[in-house]
Amino acid sequence: MADVKLQQLAKSYGKNQVLRQIDLHIQNGEFMVFVGPSGCGKSTLLRMIAGLESIDEGELFIGGVRSNDIPPAQRGLAMVFQSYALYPHMTVFENMAFSLTLSKMSKAEIASTVERTAEALQITHLLERKPRDLSGGQRQRVAIGRAIVRQPSLFLFDEPLSNLDASLRVQMRIELSKMHRELQSTMIYVTHDQVEAMTLGQRIAVFNGGIIEQVGTPLTLYEHPANVFVAGFLGTPKMNLLAATVMDAERQGVLVQLADGCLLQIQVDGRSLRIGDHVTVGIRAEHIKLEDTTQTSTNRLQVDVNFVEHLGDSCIVYANFPGAENLFAAKFSAEIPQLRPSQKLTLYAAAEHCYAFDTTGNALPRLSALSAR
Ligand SMILES: Nc1ncnc2c1ncn2[C@@H]1O[C@H](COP(=O)(O)OP(=O)(O)O)[C@@H](O)[C@H]1O
Ligand SMILES: [Mg+2]
Repeated sequence: MADVKLQQLAKSYGKNQVLRQIDLHIQNGEFMVFVGPSGCGKSTLLRMIAGLESIDEGELFIGGVRSNDIPPAQRGLAMVFQSYALYPHMTVFENMAFSLTLSKMSKAEIASTVERTAEALQITHLLERKPRDLSGGQRQRVAIGRAIVRQPSLFLFDEPLSNLDASLRVQMRIELSKMHRELQSTMIYVTHDQVEAMTLGQRIAVFNGGIIEQVGTPLTLYEHPANVFVAGFLGTPKMNLLAATVMDAERQGVLVQLADGCLLQIQVDGRSLRIGDHVTVGIRAEHIKLEDTTQTSTNRLQVDVNFVEHLGDSCIVYANFPGAENLFAAKFSAEIPQLRPSQKLTLYAAAEHCYAFDTTGNALPRLSALSAR
């Protein structure tokens, strides 16, 4: 059993507080991903769990045991880093066997454990090679193998795939998921890559500036982001975020006006808003339509096409929208060959697909979410 409980954890380097009020319970056997922009404290927290960094405040429990002061080697965990420091003078076999030789396992047992693990990772044919004769992907497999042989009940990964090229990353993602299913160990995986987080995590904790913004399953975070940070962080293209003014606000919905004068109905509970309040409207690129599906006189956006990404089976239109910081992105599930730069387009966004965030950045409760629960 290796559930991991973090209670009010905090960490500072000198005057720089890098983590505060971290509360999180990672279940036994869970694949938990820590995601967030660079510098938000993910690695620091992982190293605190590993015992490689001290804990300033709060409590860490691993498998129910208070572990703040337990030395790293006695925490029953294995860690895989981005830079897989294999021993260069040892073969793959020796690298993988190293920690087992320290544990006084018999030679025959070590050999069979390493061979079994190598088979699972499809690196049996590499066992006699030295690290310098391996590709990046192969080295990373060896590093993972070296961690697995000890059969820890808790794995910690810190951006283990970020040195690999795109196609290899996809392949390794699939293998890590499989490995998790087979081993059923608890895994905590740090990444700054939101696609990796969405595809690997059973749950994701989104970090920002030393705090956790939201914890949930990939779909919960995607469909019901708690705030504007999470909304903008997950999803490609990024959610469109537009400044707007409240024209009408009720329990059953909110009517806002965008910078271009366009009126937008949004299916959120508006009871906390007043007329004239400023809000941020969020619309995901894939929820924009070219045809009028809204069946109202509102929710039409007038944009100027800036450029188009043709992906073959779909296309993404980037357009200028008054008052928007970034280009407005709309994703269509089919190609539209006739689109040209500077072309004027009318786009539609249905009320149930629009989000609204108050001035503090918190999401207003979506009505569809309320009825679904
Ligand atoms: N040993 C250290 N000494 C001083 N500051 C550090 C140290 N390690 C990390 N930091 C700072 O802590 C913050 C969080 O770093 P880190 O946990 O590595 O972020 P992430 O992994 O999310 O990119 C950063 O501002 C970083 O500069
Ligand atoms: Mg890091």
